[in-house]
Amino acid sequence: MQHEAHWWREAAIYQIYVRSFADSNGDGEGDLAGIRERLPHLTELGVDAIWLTPFYVSPLADGGYDVADYRDVDPRFGTLDDFDALLKDAHEQGIRLIIDVVPNHSSSEHVWFREAVAAEPGAPARARYIFRDGKGPDGEEPPNNWKSIFGGPAWTRLTRPDGTPEQWYLHLFDPGQPDFDWTHQEVHDEFDDVLRFWMDRGVDGFRIDVAHGMVKDPTLPDIDPDAKADMLDGSTSLPYFDQDGVHEIYRRWSRIAASYEGDRALVAEAWVEDSDRIARYLRPDELHQAFNFEYLTAPWDAARLREVIDGSLKANDAVGATTTWVLSNHDVVRHVTRFGDGEQGLRRARAATLLMLGLPGSAYIYQGEELGLPEVTDLPEDALQDPNWERSGRTERGRDGCRVPLPWEGETAPFGFGSEGSTPWLPMPERWAGLSRASQNGVEGSTLELYKTALRLRRELDALGDGSMNWLDSPEGVLYFEREPGVRVAVNMTEAPVELAASGEVLVASGPGVEVSEGTLTLPAESSAWLSA
Ligand code: BGC
Repeated sequence: MQHEAHWWREAAIYQIYVRSFADSNGDGEGDLAGIRERLPHLTELGVDAIWLTPFYVSPLADGGYDVADYRDVDPRFGTLDDFDALLKDAHEQGIRLIIDVVPNHSSSEHVWFREAVAAEPGAPARARYIFRDGKGPDGEEPPNNWKSIFGGPAWTRLTRPDGTPEQWYLHLFDPGQPDFDWTHQEVHDEFDDVLRFWMDRGVDGFRIDVAHGMVKDPTLPDIDPDAKADMLDGSTSLPYFDQDGVHEIYRRWSRIAASYEGDRALVAEAWVEDSDRIARYLRPDELHQAFNFEYLTAPWDAARLREVIDGSLKANDAVGATTTWVLSNHDVVRHVTRFGDGEQGLRRARAATLLMLGLPGSAYIYQGEELGLPEVTDLPEDALQDPNWERSGRTERGRDGCRVPLPWEGETAPFGFGSEGSTPWLPMPERWAGLSRASQNGVEGSTLELYKTALRLRRELDALGDGSMNWLDSPEGVLYFEREPGVRVAVNMTEAPVELAASGEVLVASGPGVEVSEGTLTLPAESSAWLSA
């Protein structure tokens, strides 16, 4: 199939978790000016685009995914002028910029929600959210049995200033994140306008938060009480996720994006298990790409990965969309740790990087993976900020361990993340000195140099990026494929060295000991390489 050469079809997109990237004013939280200062690092790394997580006005009940004003920057992160300056610099350096849009819910501090709370039950101001009377004689039970993804019920009851309890409102996430009612026209109009606001400023697209949410089964039916209401699980069919009506919204957004000059990308964060269901979001008149969470959640297992790769390519090809590959983001345990932590985890993570960047399509890189950062699993309990922690009755530590600020340079925390003596919003482990950017930059064999080399080759070689692939014969536990013209990707996922038939040269290898000699490629345990064919 011939495709238009949209930039996102083969982009390497770097995810910036704004709060944890770089702190320009020493208040302990990353900010837009900090990103701007560090942009040359990203140019040098060789990424094509960046995705910024929410920097909008927010009480940060869920790290900014609780937006109080969709058209302004939170003072902690900067100003609209800082945003414009960052966007301008990024464009000048050849980097595109996409931002998060959070349409399933707002913050409880949003002016609409405040109006709704102040209004009477049944008043028009309540209709933009999902308010219902409770069940039971005094309405003391929630309207249905839906559970919050962060634990506990998905409904919170309002109380009047005099203490009288009244209606309940729905929040699939934190109580500070009331769900919008997407049957209300004003909600549609508002988000049309929010998209336009940022596209007018020049953004190259949006990552759509909880893109499989928004539309609820209008009867709000009870769910199976045993259903695992965990969005990251993606395997259950729930009356508030992946409902058919959501596609109508994306057809409209697609038309809005297409009405702008330049290529504006719409990217779905949809935790839907089945790749065919995901592909429905990527039909030609809907969104452009979706995160491949099936790939992200696949275990270290060659047969399973091959199945996921084939399934993803097939499902996306069927709708003419490009496939994406992703190993980590701000919601999951960092892949070094998922793959076993320590030396083994890093070895596997590096091998997985050349696989991901060698596959057809585009790739998402989460800040810090280019440094080989592991999850921080020993954050002190009093430092934890993810709503998961409190909502789960302090049984789930949540996602803070992958959100620890980045180590840039120096021997002690905050490692150049903020000025000396500043206190990062999450403590940074002292053991990270050896992982800082400065300690890896220019050092042969470092993870940072591996990413740089791979990203440079990915740009230089026509075979990589968008296109197709052909599997080559390989023993069990090994993935081996060809990208035309002239590149082979080999990944040994076993714990023993393997030999494969190969000619050409090693272009880049994930670790030491990879060589081609007399028509044979030797790949040490848990390593990968790109070869010229
Ligand atoms: C974001 C999470 C957030 C949730 C609610 C997600 O999928 O990536 O960080 O907690 O949406 O907005």
